[in-house]
Amino acid sequence: MSLVILGVESSCDDTSVAVVKDGYVLSNIISNQEIHKAYGGVVPELASRAHQQNIIPAVDTALKEAGLSKNNISAVAFTLGPGLLGSLLVGTSFAKGFALAAGIPLIAVNHLQAHILVHFIKEEKSENLSPDFPFLCLLVSGGHTQLVIVRDYLNMEIIGQTLDDAAGEAFDKCAKIMGLPYPGGPWIDKYSKDGKAVFKFSKPVVNGFDFSFSGLKTSFLYFLRDRLKENPAFIEQNLNDLCASLQYSIISILEENLIRASHYTGINNIAIAGGVSANNGLRIRIKELSEIHHWKIFIPELRFTTDNAAMIAITGYYKYLAGQFCGQDIAPLARLKF
Ligand code: KG4
Ligand code: ZN
Repeated sequence: MSLVILGVESSCDDTSVAVVKDGYVLSNIISNQEIHKAYGGVVPELASRAHQQNIIPAVDTALKEAGLSKNNISAVAFTLGPGLLGSLLVGTSFAKGFALAAGIPLIAVNHLQAHILVHFIKEEKSENLSPDFPFLCLLVSGGHTQLVIVRDYLNMEIIGQTLDDAAGEAFDKCAKIMGLPYPGGPWIDKYSKDGKAVFKFSKPVVNGFDFSFSGLKTSFLYFLRDRLKENPAFIEQNLNDLCASLQYSIISILEENLIRASHYTGINNIAIAGGVSANNGLRIRIKELSEIHHWKIFIPELRFTTDNAAMIAITGYYKYLAGQFCGQDIAPLARLKF
């Protein structure tokens, strides 16, 4: 019998609903919340209200696109955390109600674990290459930056993480300093393509496999402050090079730990995941590194890099197979760890 999982993601500012059947994604609807652009960042109160408006239409479209009805769903998987509490509550409440009404199991999913498991989403007419275990995953998103040893679908160990800002935050905060729209990561990526990494910023000194990005942000801020005193048009005149330099610095910090972790663990299966893994410079650099270090690399499809419910549904699929269900008394956790 087929296993059909309805995935619901509402941890931040994207309302997403997906249907995954036997590991194959049938639909993956993402409703972006444009309203936050006007504020230069996500406004939690507005995000949870927008989730409430978006969730029913997103479920409806996801089921229609999958060619299924609610009676075909075997279980509902939802994001338990980490994320914004008000946003998580909307997805959690919806998932609970749906599971209760349909009399089907409920599965709580860790958002970070789900970002990593995108590498197991299968699609029709695709090669569906997945990493063998164990593999090393560089998880880079707006809220997290982690190096994870993935031993099995549901057995992961974090060996390094950021001590302050996440890589995505470094992109977004520096973009804001330059007056670029939110989220700034994709804009920096875009302008970098026509720029050269001619400016240098301070590099963090961190032990083990941990990361730090707050020093880079401060160094970038002071650099611009000094240059703008001499030339108020410095940003406009150097935007491409500024973006390329910043992107180069962020990627250098990331790759250094990844290379060391691969040497230390002896693991040559390397994956990247999370919103920042959409970054063109990072994707190119990982390919270059794979040749230098003889890595087997796994780079997710662009649509599975940023927040999406297909990743929640595929994690739900593996949790279903492992018999990991939850009760109706479960409550979302803003700071959930794994
Ligand atoms: O994984 P995600 O969608 O949400 C979180 O779980 O945080 O990641 C969002 C982050 C944002 O910081 C955004 O600027 C960054 O991913 N991002 C990028 C790119 N696309 C999204 N950063 C750099 N280059 C990109 N192309
Ligand atoms: Zn995410």
